[in-house]
Amino acid sequence: MSTPPAEPLRVAVLVGSTREGRFAPVVTKWLAGQLDQRDDLRGDVVDLAETPLPTVFPAFGQQPPPGTEEQLALVSPRLAAADAFVLVTPEYNHSFPASLKNAIDWHNEQWHGKPVAFVSYGGRSGGLRAVEQLRVVMAELNATTIRNTVSFHDAWSRFDADGTCTDPAADTAAKALFDQLAWWGHALRDARSVRRYVA
Ligand SMILES: Cc1cc2nc3c(=O)[nH]c(=O)nc-3n(C[C@H](O)[C@H](O)[C@H](O)COP(=O)(O)O)c2cc1C
Repeated sequence: MSTPPAEPLRVAVLVGSTREGRFAPVVTKWLAGQLDQRDDLRGDVVDLAETPLPTVFPAFGQQPPPGTEEQLALVSPRLAAADAFVLVTPEYNHSFPASLKNAIDWHNEQWHGKPVAFVSYGGRSGGLRAVEQLRVVMAELNATTIRNTVSFHDAWSRFDADGTCTDPAADTAAKALFDQLAWWGHALRDARSVRRYVA
């Protein structure tokens, strides 16, 4: 008797930069193309520029101000439904953008017991300093971070004028990243289905 194929893992791709004129859509379009090639993963791109969240938090125990729930409704259920995440981050001053931290901080249990992978870009460092800081943040949120990354050093030189990636090594790196994300995604989805995560 053969085992039925597993339901594809739902992967929320969180686009961290909200800067005007940002490079993020180029990287995200490439990433979405890589994701589309996977039968085992189903992507949902959550672009924080299209779903902005307030930067003022309510007091502990208080409801958010009017309008906030509607803004959160465009993001929070999609993070809750995800089995795994990819955070797309540039490097800003040796770290990740405030817009990404804000979206992370608005949520808590949505991250619990789930794997998080990183695709980064920037200048010389390829955004890797942002990634290393994000690992610390995600550990606090009971998430597991994936070892392999895709990082674009001098990102603007890795894509042509049409936004096509000119570095074949990036496709290879994306496959390795997705393979690891899928392993952890399945392992943790199976675990959560039999035992509630205890934070
Ligand atoms: C405020 C700010 C700070 C930056 N700091 C760094 C940095 O520390 N290291 C780096 O490699 N690139 C840095 N950059 C360059 C960005 O990584 C690069 O411009 C990238 O395209 C930004 O992503 P975005 O265009 O999607 O917003 C910085 C850019 C900005 C806007």
